[in-house]
Amino acid sequence: MVTLASYDELPYDSLPLPETQPDFLAAIARLHGFESPDPRRARILELGCAQGGNLIPLAWRWPDCECVGVELSRVQAEAGAAFIRSLGLANVRILHGDLAALPADLGEFDYIIAHGVFSWVPPAVQAALLDVCRRHLVPRGLAYVSFNVAAGWTPLLPLRAALVERTAAGLPAPARYARALRVLDDLQAEWRDPLLLKEIAYLKGAAPSYLFHEYLAEFNAPIGFSDFATQLDAHGLRYVGEAGPRNAVVELEDAWGLAPEGMTGRWIDAECALDDAFGTRFRRALIARADAACAHPPQARALGTLAFCADLRSDEEIDLEDAIEQAFVNPAGNAFRVGEPLLKAAVMVLAARYPQAIAYAELLAAARALLQEYGAEPPADAAAFGDALFALAMAHGVMPTVWEGPTGHAPPKRPCAHALARQQAGTPGWVVSGARHVALDLDVPGRALLAALDGSRTIDQLLDLMRAALAQAGSVPAPERLLEAMWRQLWLFARQGLLQDGSPPSREP
Ligand SMILES: C[S@@+](CC[C@H](N)C(=O)[O-])C[C@H]1O[C@@H](n2cnc3c(N)ncnc32)[C@H](O)[C@@H]1O
Repeated sequence: MVTLASYDELPYDSLPLPETQPDFLAAIARLHGFESPDPRRARILELGCAQGGNLIPLAWRWPDCECVGVELSRVQAEAGAAFIRSLGLANVRILHGDLAALPADLGEFDYIIAHGVFSWVPPAVQAALLDVCRRHLVPRGLAYVSFNVAAGWTPLLPLRAALVERTAAGLPAPARYARALRVLDDLQAEWRDPLLLKEIAYLKGAAPSYLFHEYLAEFNAPIGFSDFATQLDAHGLRYVGEAGPRNAVVELEDAWGLAPEGMTGRWIDAECALDDAFGTRFRRALIARADAACAHPPQARALGTLAFCADLRSDEEIDLEDAIEQAFVNPAGNAFRVGEPLLKAAVMVLAARYPQAIAYAELLAAARALLQEYGAEPPADAAAFGDALFALAMAHGVMPTVWEGPTGHAPPKRPCAHALARQQAGTPGWVVSGARHVALDLDVPGRALLAALDGSRTIDQLLDLMRAALAQAGSVPAPERLLEAMWRQLWLFARQGLLQDGSPPSREP
């Protein structure tokens, strides 16, 4: 069987990607007027799934789903298959093979995910990928296909050309990466273009796999959105919407008299204009079969049918009386400014209930109650709230979803993490995924602690274990600092839905 040597040598960081979660995709599609299947019992296919860091947590989360991954790199496919075997998970498998030559009996899927694949494969495989979407989607199924966009990438192509030209393609991946870093130093001294210098500075600190697979890969073919839409058309597919964060959305105010079919051309043109205006580099397109119902640009009025979750905090004292803008920050460090007092209250409610999602009506009621508790008068009309929530959801400050998700609970006396989290923490090269499909950035002692949470140890025993692990690494913190650090970790695990509720593990293989 063939393999893909570049990914065998320097595997892509295989992470959970929140924007690919089918419950989120279903919510985004609904904002676009498109109803997709229930994600909790869906068949999910991931193309170019690497070692399954994105797919396996989805299968774990929804036991009634059936998940299939396809990956051309033998090393990654085998690592994923071994991980699944030792977890004893029966509803997910990873096939080592070419997405352009799928087994005939694979069947249809409700969701197809292809993240970071389309722009990085030759044109024939691009066509095959879209073909797979057409042939293997159920009638109302949704595919997620991300790709590099010409509008933002064209100015960066001289940097890619210089890196490819000045590093030998035949070098082993780590040596080529080291050489590329030296080339970046040279280019920094030679070049004057501020955009390219900014990108060089970014690349010097970025993950090696990013530089390698974006800038040194054999294929990286950014495409204009209108060309992408033309390709969809040629494959019997159509655009449904964008699953990436957006600070501006298309509004077609003059399209009220048009049939949905007639609106599509204008919508695509407007999307292209946004790409040019914002220098869009990357898109996460949601697509459906051309014979499925038409979608339209996203509209706030569909918010009422959705639920929302948010892991935001603020360092400011939140003013619930005045419409002054205040910043809320997510764990990745992205800041979102909110002025509408009712929305500030809603964000506080969501943050307190994370990882659980709250349905629109309940959220609005809870936000109103919070304002009243603080002596502020809630507005009679929720229109401004709806508009502000819509903008925040489009920017991914809050995530819309159709899945309520788990509730967090306090760490019990003998904390027990679920088996997936323990195995992720205890397996080098795997990232721990939180309840909402986020990658958790844990240090070595944090991973050791999580891997040890099998429900058999008391807090004191866990402390002893941590102390011994740290002593072995040459660091001996003061007892109170160790205790504080351990509780901080345990509360993070609890908030991320990794801990079971003190009861015996229910999902052990
Ligand atoms: C940039 S990586 C993205 C990996 C993963 N989807 C993610 O986002 O973390 C592209 C992946 O597609 C795989 N790939 C490339 N060509 C493929 C093909 N023809 N069939 C299946 N997988 C392929 C590569 O081996 C690699 O793992």
